Amino acid sequence: MSILIKGGRVVTAESDFIADIYTEGEQIVAIGKDLPYKAKKTINAKNKLVMPGGIDPHVHLDMPFMGTHSSDDYENGTRAALFGGTTMVIDFILQTQGDSLKNALKTWQGKSQGKAIGDYSYHMAVTDFNKKTAKEVVQMIEKEGITSFKTFMAYKGALMIDDGQMVQLMKVVKEHGGLVTVHATNGDMIDSLVAKHRSEGKLSPLYHYLSQPEITEAEASARFADMLHYTGCPGYIVHMTCEGALNAVREATLRNQKLFVETCTQYLTLDASLYKRKDGAKWVMSPPLREKKDQKALWSGLNQGLVQVVGTDHCPFTWKQKQMGKKDFSKIPNGHPAIEHRMELLFSEGVRKGRISLNKFVELSSTNAAKIFGMHPRKGTIAIGADADIVVFNPRKRHVISKKTHHMNADYSSYEGFKLTGKTETVVLRGQVAIEKNKCLLRKGYGQFIKRGKTSLVV
Ligand code: URP
Ligand code: ZN
Ligand code: ZN
Repeated sequence: MSILIKGGRVVTAESDFIADIYTEGEQIVAIGKDLPYKAKKTINAKNKLVMPGGIDPHVHLDMPFMGTHSSDDYENGTRAALFGGTTMVIDFILQTQGDSLKNALKTWQGKSQGKAIGDYSYHMAVTDFNKKTAKEVVQMIEKEGITSFKTFMAYKGALMIDDGQMVQLMKVVKEHGGLVTVHATNGDMIDSLVAKHRSEGKLSPLYHYLSQPEITEAEASARFADMLHYTGCPGYIVHMTCEGALNAVREATLRNQKLFVETCTQYLTLDASLYKRKDGAKWVMSPPLREKKDQKALWSGLNQGLVQVVGTDHCPFTWKQKQMGKKDFSKIPNGHPAIEHRMELLFSEGVRKGRISLNKFVELSSTNAAKIFGMHPRKGTIAIGADADIVVFNPRKRHVISKKTHHMNADYSSYEGFKLTGKTETVVLRGQVAIEKNKCLLRKGYGQFIKRGKTSLVV
């Protein structure tokens, strides 16, 4: 298959020019003005933006959690991602406490192989660190191409590890060139606030928010940064929500630490006032949505280079699943559907509203994730020899987000009625047209597992 994308405005993290792009097989073969190639397929990109396929490094597909499973599997989740211009996702394998990383890997391979439509990789969540796990960590990096290890400082009894285990894990990961990522909130503080609110009969979704005050995230982020500093390991904080946590990272950067930060579209665009609504369970996620002042801090953090990645933490549940916590906020499965609109939300709220530049948009939605997670320059850029993962984007197209038109397996949208400017129109994944005229043209099983290398520490 060959494709000629003609006359678009090609935007990468560092450049912006009008050109044609010619792809052959799975890769980009030529970039230039008026390329003399004849292709099987020509895409007219005049007046459109042509950008690297998006990478969402934080999704949970078909994940067992809080007594149920996230409602998008690999087929549906990666298809919905493609509709929004995200050509690759990184999901989380969860080690079962008492069991091996190898078994957990097998379980996730069973969920994804032959099912994914878009490309994918995994972070390995280490929930039980011991001598055996330490050896397996090395195998994951050297044999499996899984180079990032997720840790939880919360969800005690299911996913959380203690600080002693964290430091030991960091030492092994550092020695072998990997990266430790973290859900940074103080699990013990949260658990005691949850217990207090429940004992007082305060059971509505608002108390999910009030059980996870900003300090629980700021404290854990600072503690994680200190443990990284002590061990010399590079790290990555997932789904950062607030000013206090960002300030902890600011402090850490004064020590010249390799500490990367991800925020998510919801923390940039939605706020905690939603928890007062009757349907507040829709936004029950951890950490919770915060205040307007936190949104402001995060947008600044993107431009200051303190926050390098915008993901989604896509962890969808249907309204029926959310009803598991109808009488008790602590039983509401945490998470929301988001994989589809990450790029369009970030473009509309960020670029169109003058908060970030177009090059910054590409960095945040694709390039930095590819660099941090060891896939650049195969992924995350438009360059000769890179995978032909390309988004043709109409920067003027207006549309409205709705559950009626989205492709995620969720019967509500967290952004229902949001008016956006800018829409993904055509998507190419490894040289094949994936999305065209609002249809997905790829079949399940096209998505490939992408083996990753070591972090490139400069973004
Ligand atoms: O609420 C969330 N974030 N659910 C998914 C699990 C996690 O903590 O990322
Ligand atoms: Zn988390
Ligand atoms: Zn998550």
